[in-house]
Amino acid sequence: MKIKIISSITVLVLLASVDTMAQKTLGEATKGKFLFGTAVNMQQVNGVNPIETELIAKEFTTIVAENCMKPQPIHPEENRYNWDDADKLVAFGEKNKQVVTGHCLIWHSQIGRWFFTDADGKDVSPDVLKERMRQHITTVVGRYKGRVKGWDVVNEAFEDNGTYRNSKFYQILGKDFIKYAFQFAHDADPNVELYYNDYNVETPAKCDAIVGLVKELKAAGCRIDAVGSQAHMHMNSPTLEATETSFKKLKAAGVKILITEWDISILPSPYDGANISASFKYSKEMDPYREAIPDSIQQKWNKRVLDMFGLFLKYHEVIDRVTVWGLTDNTNWLNNFPIRGRKDYPVLFDRNNQRKPVVDEMIKMAEKQ
Ligand code: XIL
Repeated sequence: MKIKIISSITVLVLLASVDTMAQKTLGEATKGKFLFGTAVNMQQVNGVNPIETELIAKEFTTIVAENCMKPQPIHPEENRYNWDDADKLVAFGEKNKQVVTGHCLIWHSQIGRWFFTDADGKDVSPDVLKERMRQHITTVVGRYKGRVKGWDVVNEAFEDNGTYRNSKFYQILGKDFIKYAFQFAHDADPNVELYYNDYNVETPAKCDAIVGLVKELKAAGCRIDAVGSQAHMHMNSPTLEATETSFKKLKAAGVKILITEWDISILPSPYDGANISASFKYSKEMDPYREAIPDSIQQKWNKRVLDMFGLFLKYHEVIDRVTVWGLTDNTNWLNNFPIRGRKDYPVLFDRNNQRKPVVDEMIKMAEKQ
């Protein structure tokens, strides 16, 4: 009789704890380790699909704008800023008590051509470009002063081989455009954190170049708080070892690490970068999971998520934030990049806005640490 009562109590306790586990969010489970977030689009901020909007408010401790704070959307013409979307997004994060990050101030993509050209369509002089950068950065950072925790000041300035990307910024100003951007951002808000952000940070030559940049910026007296590793990943690359090596190098450089745009594409890829102008032709072979994902492939994806998340947890003392690039598979950018019209499954919520089973495993891992 006694044993029976005790075992029923045990079952009840177990059931209760399974229940609270199921209720836990990723944001709650990772508290004290790092912020856990998602990129957010304007439909979500505007509540077009209220389930998505609620999920974002509930599951995450931090958000970032998927597009609306980038140079082109926020500053489409020299004398015109578009504040509506960014204002709403920042207010949405504040309402949900989430940390808001700014993405991004200076980037070669999603930036108006006007930024680099004069009235005749010719490249502007170094002085003019520098002044346009100053105005842009000062105005945008100034507007959200005290409301945004940190900014991706410069995005994607390096090629994978560690050389500087031959962007208009680089062509007109040389590598100093990076230093100017950090200086202008710091002047606009001395309390805001400043980040350098890039993809394929796991590639040794690129990582070394970024470490070199961190040292140069520090030597020039600039503030730099963290390096953002976009972490757009594939099934086989980057390896866990390469990812860990990049963490060790960044840690040794004396900066924090942010995982800023995490996703793991389940599809075959013709290209392992994230330069958004890359584009390849559609074929059925490159889009193999329109109906369903074979179990063995799903298991492999789950393992990859858990291996990477385990590594993030292992380095939680230097990793301040992990942000997934998008809430659901449905609205995910990888359905159209680098090939348009495919069906990818790269993030943590499925096409019915359901948490994937791997999320419960992630929560267990985070709580065990
Ligand atoms: C992507 C967005 O997700 C898309 O909606 C948009 O069409 C293109 O840009 N690196 C970055 C992000 O820093 O800003 C990019 O976001 C993905 C690659």
